[in-house]
Order: sequence, then C-alpha cells, then structure tokens
Amino acid sequence: MAVQDMQGLLKHELGDLLYAEKVFLKGLKQMSKEASNPMIRDRIVRHAEETQEHIVNIERAFETIGYKPRAQKCDAAIGLDEERKSFRDEDPSPEVLEAFNLGSGLRVEHYEIAGYRTAIALAKQTGNEQCARLLQHNLDQEVAMATFLEQSAPNALAELGDLLDEDVSD
Ligand SMILES: [Fe+2]
Ligand SMILES: [Fe+2]
Repeated sequence: MAVQDMQGLLKHELGDLLYAEKVFLKGLKQMSKEASNPMIRDRIVRHAEETQEHIVNIERAFETIGYKPRAQKCDAAIGLDEERKSFRDEDPSPEVLEAFNLGSGLRVEHYEIAGYRTAIALAKQTGNEQCARLLQHNLDQEVAMATFLEQSAPNALAELGDLLDEDVSD
C-alpha cells in the first residue's frame, strides 16, 4: 500500500533501518573474524554490540509512534552485503581483505547515517520527539564508527603492513 503521509513515511524508514541493521550485524560479526589488527577487531566487535542496541532502539522507536516493529526488506543493505561477500569469496590475501573491509564498512556506516538523518528529520517534523531521541543515539554511534574507519583504521592497517614487511625481510 502506498505511503500517504509523513508518519507513514517515518514508519517505512524505521522498517528499512531495522532490516538494514540486522543485515549489517551479521556482516560485522564476519568482519570481526577477518580482522587481524586487534584495534580494528575490537572496534568492530564493539560496534556489533552497539548494533544490537540499535535494533532495540528502532523497535522502541516504532512503539513511540504507535506501531509494532516490522522490518521492511532493504535491497540497498542486501546489495552492500553481497558486494562485501563476493569480494571475500574471491579469496584475497588477509591484508587486502582487511583493507577492503574498512571501505566496505565505511559505505555501510554512511548508508545508516543517511537513513537515521532522514528518519530523525521526519520524527521531528511529525512531533515525535521521543522517537527522534532514540534514533539520535544510534546516529551518534554510526558517526563515531564512520570516523574511526576513516581516520584511525588506515593507520592501524599501515602499521600492520609494516610489520608484515619486516617479517618478510627477516
Ligand atoms: Fe547501526
Ligand atoms: Fe553502524
């Protein structure tokens, strides 16, 4: 049924985010196993825990606007996850896979950031302040993860590369 009003659009956006978070949670768990740098691995594990909270927050956000939580199939999330898996399945070296996962993870965070910003704007526009607050909590954690992937992770990975080079020259 076509969405006819802003509250309906908010519900649609929440359903999209709920589905996406569930897809990305599985991806984070896989990526944490593939990460060899402990700093990167720990951060991914922590974000997987945060993602479990995100799911609960979205379910609560649904309730604040009077609906039962319901995921809405998100083809974009499936596509992002498929791209990650098909690259991995080609069997790149562990370092290449780790570097690839940083970029793949960053794309995911930006998808989530766009979704939360949209849903927060809609929640505010429709007077659903409690819903907006719950989503803001998730958004803040997505932004922090995106910043980590963009700024800290490449350095950690470069250090890992140097260590590997030293091993080879020994
Ligand atoms: Fe999330
Ligand atoms: Fe995230």
